Amino acid sequence: MTRPDGSASSRRTFLKRSSQAVAVSALASSAIPRVHAAENNLIQIALIGAGGRGSGAAANALSVKNGPIKLVALADVFERKLANSAASLKKQFGDRADVPPERIFLGFDGYKKAMDCLRPGDVAIFATPPAFRWVHFAYAIEKGLHVFMEKPITVDGPTTKKLFELADKADKKNLKVGVGLMVRHCRGRHELLKRIRDGQIGEIISMRAYRMGSGGGTAGPKPDNITELLYQVQRFHAFLWASGGVYSDYYIHQIDECSWMKGAWPVRAQAVGGRHYRGNSLDQNFDTYSVEYMFPDGTRLYYYGRQMPGCHNEFASYAHGSKGSAVISTSGHAPGRVRIYKDHNMSADSLAWAYPQPEQSPYQLEWDDLIEAIRKDLPYNEAR
Ligand SMILES: NC(=O)c1ccc[n+]([C@@H]2O[C@H](COP(=O)([O-])OP(=O)(O)OC[C@H]3O[C@@H](n4cnc5c(N)ncnc54)[C@H](O)[C@@H]3O)[C@@H](O)[C@H]2O)c1
Repeated sequence: MTRPDGSASSRRTFLKRSSQAVAVSALASSAIPRVHAAENNLIQIALIGAGGRGSGAAANALSVKNGPIKLVALADVFERKLANSAASLKKQFGDRADVPPERIFLGFDGYKKAMDCLRPGDVAIFATPPAFRWVHFAYAIEKGLHVFMEKPITVDGPTTKKLFELADKADKKNLKVGVGLMVRHCRGRHELLKRIRDGQIGEIISMRAYRMGSGGGTAGPKPDNITELLYQVQRFHAFLWASGGVYSDYYIHQIDECSWMKGAWPVRAQAVGGRHYRGNSLDQNFDTYSVEYMFPDGTRLYYYGRQMPGCHNEFASYAHGSKGSAVISTSGHAPGRVRIYKDHNMSADSLAWAYPQPEQSPYQLEWDDLIEAIRKDLPYNEAR
């Protein structure tokens, strides 16, 4: 995204850098790391937000193969989440999930205590609801920590501005920042991008993306045994302050991957949406969204989102060009199963190319790339 001040920093700049990083990584994967996160070769990790994705991200971090990595602290606002995450990570990784009770922190200030367990050059993972990102990121920068933070990293205009400022500060301290748009690390999507840039589907004329499924982002009446704040934090997809809502939290991946393939960000959007079937849910989402994005060259991306049971389901992204078409996502984010067709019907007969299967998990690749950048001191800041 081009920064609000119009300066050159952009996700595309990052992309150029990150594809260089990927190339370096591929060439040098067997090389002995020369630049380390701390005095020794060990990278320590703290997980803030020990839910589903956070625990998954910690597992991906501990699965990176190019040097020693250890999880040393956990923070969350629910005791049950901490206990489950610690137990599951210990089961998978044994002593490398080194989180004794004195390094497990409960409460809204737990993020500081967990990051205080790290040394400059270690890595903090942020996988709480997005509302807390800038607060946690600011502390990590102060402490000289590299960061992996899950998408979305902002919930509105003001927090987006804050993140841009923090991204600059992170650069000034040479901190590496990974953001969980993992599709950007998918090797199949990189190959597809190259083929699109080489003109294999001609000029992109239109794009379509769908995230149409059975539900999400609802919040029934608050039970008596929980505070209002914890209730909203627990159901963050339901509340705009906490997550930006399902539009931002769920749909960000496909809007991003389509814009990446197009090589441009939309400059205008018009949309309709409606709320029909949400029953007694108190949430701030719609059941349906349809958005027409316009790119600078006047071509469109049509985005359809729906949370409604009992309807046709589709979770896919497509590009249509003057010489053919491409599948950017087939069903969900991974495997991407990207491919190119000679026509627009996308029938088996017109298949021109498909990325070989099976493909690597982009959730693992985004960590391989981040840790490679840390160990080899490569430019790496995905926060723009
Ligand atoms: N990249 C992807 O494909 C992907 C997939 C799933 C989720 N995510 C993102 O990961 C983030 C977490 O999603 P999730 O599905 O794991 O949700 P989750 O509810 O399972 O986990 C969030 C955790 O953060 C904890 N938490 C909330 N506020 C906190 C705070 N202030 N300090 C410490 N802990 C706090 C919650 O108790 C919970 O355990 C979201 O931003 C989501 O969009 C990304």
